[in-house]
Amino acid sequence: MTQLASRPAATRPVPDIVTEIPGPRARAHVEFDHGVTSPSLPRAYPLVPVRGEGATIEDIDGNRFLDFAAGIAVNSTGHAHPRVVSAIQEQAEQLIHYSASDFYLPIYPQTCAELGRISPFNEPTRVYLGNSGTEVVEASIKLARLATGRPYVVAFLGGFHGRTYGSVTLTASKSKYHAGFGPLLPGVFHAPYGKVEDLRWFDEVLFERLAPADEVAAIIVEPIQGEGGYIVPEDGFLEGLRRMCDEHGILLIADEIQSGAGRTGRMWAVQHWGVVPDMLLTAKGIASGMPLGALIAPARLLEAWGPGAHGSTFGGNPVACAAALATIELLEEGLTANAAARGRQALAGLHPLHERFPALVREVRGMGLMLGVEFDTPEHAEEVQWACFQRGLLVLECGKSAVRMSPPLVVTESEMATGVRIFSEAVAAVAAERGELLATAEAAGAITGVEAAG
Ligand SMILES: Cc1ncc(COP(=O)(O)O)c(C=O)c1O
Repeated sequence: MTQLASRPAATRPVPDIVTEIPGPRARAHVEFDHGVTSPSLPRAYPLVPVRGEGATIEDIDGNRFLDFAAGIAVNSTGHAHPRVVSAIQEQAEQLIHYSASDFYLPIYPQTCAELGRISPFNEPTRVYLGNSGTEVVEASIKLARLATGRPYVVAFLGGFHGRTYGSVTLTASKSKYHAGFGPLLPGVFHAPYGKVEDLRWFDEVLFERLAPADEVAAIIVEPIQGEGGYIVPEDGFLEGLRRMCDEHGILLIADEIQSGAGRTGRMWAVQHWGVVPDMLLTAKGIASGMPLGALIAPARLLEAWGPGAHGSTFGGNPVACAAALATIELLEEGLTANAAARGRQALAGLHPLHERFPALVREVRGMGLMLGVEFDTPEHAEEVQWACFQRGLLVLECGKSAVRMSPPLVVTESEMATGVRIFSEAVAAVAAERGELLATAEAAGAITGVEAAG
């Protein structure tokens, strides 16, 4: 490790790249990893993180990165938030595990009550806790079928709901998630996503030709699509879905596993449109990186389940619950508001990229800290992702040819300005390499403008 890397963390800037990227230890580690881990893991690039603080990640070679990926939109309170760390430590000293499925764990209902309190429901709720996003998606399908006595479930093209059999059936962001695994769960249809006029598909195609409305148990929707490309639906889309569900007695399930827990500048993304679903699913950011998923629903609905209908050995583990309680406090104390402000700052800084490089940058979009930049081709999205990595900024591809930014909600104004500047430099470098866009000098002018706006 170089002298720079061995300086105390507090005195080092971020980013601070002190080796080639990936560095020698990272390269050796990747080789070791490739020999022993499942080849199904879709690694984005060779980042080998070993510690983190706030919006900073340090890798195995001592390089410090500005983290705008947050472990795929998970580390909502930043890395190692002292209050989350002490909540975890205190709980671990008391009790690490006792299955809440079979016994009465005090912190489990406390967490359920808190999740119910911050949920968008205007009536008493009950909550089921699992370990992950996919588990609560599975739970929601089971509950929807049981509660309605109806067989069919509708999801959306471009949606991502997980990788276990039920949830992967709902997932329709990329065909690779289904390749070789069929037949999948029967009774699932996929609708077009995002435009108000897409809702006509339900009357004209689904209810008319495929399945009567009174046999549809549920429609599951991401209020903002995540893995499918950070797609924000048109105003009226979610409201229209709500009306249609009410008309036909269909349950509306909001998969807020990525968009929830404050990320979009409201506690839940559905709140941007004033829509109250019948079930709300959260995971990812709700426990700052501890494995926890939750299905939150009005009590009258969840009470369709009798004892044994669903459960889990680890779900609602006390340490994960302690992290969730600390996370919820921090989200309410200001992190959600910060997500809204930093999101506005980011969009103001990123929009000029579209004006400056219109052939390369097709769209800048997002809400709060769910920010997406669409490129002309998947290759260019990948090149920008790599160019960011080389410059010390962690971002992640999504959709067909987009790059997403999902920083921790603790990201500061100056960190956001730095992130936008580096992202803009990366885009300018890719544009310059293409040769058909602006000269590097001109691009540098654009970057200065972006920084000022950031
Ligand atoms: C919207 C959404 N739903 C479900 C999932 C699945 O969550 P997990 O990976 O925890 O199973 C994800 C994960 O990326 C997601 O973004």
